[in-house]
Amino acid sequence: MAIKHFLQFSDFTLDEFEYVIERAHVIKRKFKNYEPYHPLEDRTLVMVFEKSSTRTRLSFEAGMHQLGGAAIYLNTRDSQLGRGEPVEDAAQVMSRMCDIIMIRTFGQDIIERFAANSRVPVINGLTNEHHPCQVLADVFTYLEQRGSIAGKTVAWIGDANNMLYSWLQAAKVFGFHVNVSTPAGYDIDSALVAADNDCYTVFPNPSDACQDADLVTTDVWTSMGFEEENAERLKAFDGWIVDSDKMKRARPDALFMHCLPAHRGEEVSADVIDGPQSVVWDEAENRLHVQKALLEFLVLGRIAA
Ligand code: CP
Ligand code: NVA
Repeated sequence: MAIKHFLQFSDFTLDEFEYVIERAHVIKRKFKNYEPYHPLEDRTLVMVFEKSSTRTRLSFEAGMHQLGGAAIYLNTRDSQLGRGEPVEDAAQVMSRMCDIIMIRTFGQDIIERFAANSRVPVINGLTNEHHPCQVLADVFTYLEQRGSIAGKTVAWIGDANNMLYSWLQAAKVFGFHVNVSTPAGYDIDSALVAADNDCYTVFPNPSDACQDADLVTTDVWTSMGFEEENAERLKAFDGWIVDSDKMKRARPDALFMHCLPAHRGEEVSADVIDGPQSVVWDEAENRLHVQKALLEFLVLGRIAA
C-alpha cells in the first residue's frame, strides 16, 4: 500500500482534512483538560532540520511526547546529512528506525526524493516552496474563531513565498479566495501553482487586496535561505506593511494572521500584530494540536472514535 505523506497541502483531500481537523479539536480538548492521551506509545518521530526553528521543533517534539511517543532531533551541522550522504540513503536508513519523519529543508525536490525512499510517512516542516503544517494550523484557527472558511476572502500581502503557495493550495481544497499583492519583481511563480487553481486574484496595490477581506495575512519579506537579498527586499517591499489603514479596508471583523517570527515595522505594524484583530498566538499554539492530529492520522490512520 502506498505510504501517505504530507509534503504539500494538496496531498490531502478535503475529507482527510476534515477528519484531521475534527481529531485536532478532540486532541486539543484533551490537552486543555490535562487528560493523558498516548496513542503513539513506543512510536518515534525523527525531526530533521536544515534551517532554524522555534515553533516547528517545539510543537512536534512536545506533541510527540504528549502522544506517548519520542522525538529525535537531527540537524545538518552534526549529522552525516551535512557531510554529503545522499538524501536517498538517509531516507532508507532513518525510515528503518522510526515510525514517522518530519523534515525542514531547502528545495521541495529534497523532501520529495526523501519521501520516495522512505518506508514511513514524511511531513513537510517547511521548504522554500511550501509550509503546509502552518497553513493547516491557520485554517484551524480561522474555523475556531469564525466558523467555516469556505467562500471567505483571505488577503495575502507581501512576498510570494512558501506560506503563500500553501495558502493557494488550501484555497482550492477548502473553497475560499485569496487576494494576493506582492511588489513588482516578487510575483507568484506560476510553476508553483496548479494550472486549474482559479482561487486567487492578483492586486498591484496592497490596500486594494485588503478590501472586504475576512482575513489579512502576511509573512517576513526575507525568508530563510534568501538572507543576502535582505537590503534589496527592504526597499522593494516599502508600502507592503500591513498597518491599521490596510486593516480598515478589510471587513470590521477581519482577523490578522502571521506565521511568526515577525518583524514589527517591516511586514506588519505593532498596533496590528499586537491589536485586537490579531490571532497570532492562537496560530502558534494550534501548530501543536493540528500536528498531533496529523501524527496520529499518518501513523495510525483513521481511528474509531
Ligand atoms: N512559523 C514557524 O514555522 O516558526 P518556526 O520557524 O519557529 O518553526
Ligand atoms: N517564509 C518564512 C517562514 C518562517 C516560518 C521562511 O521560510 O523563512
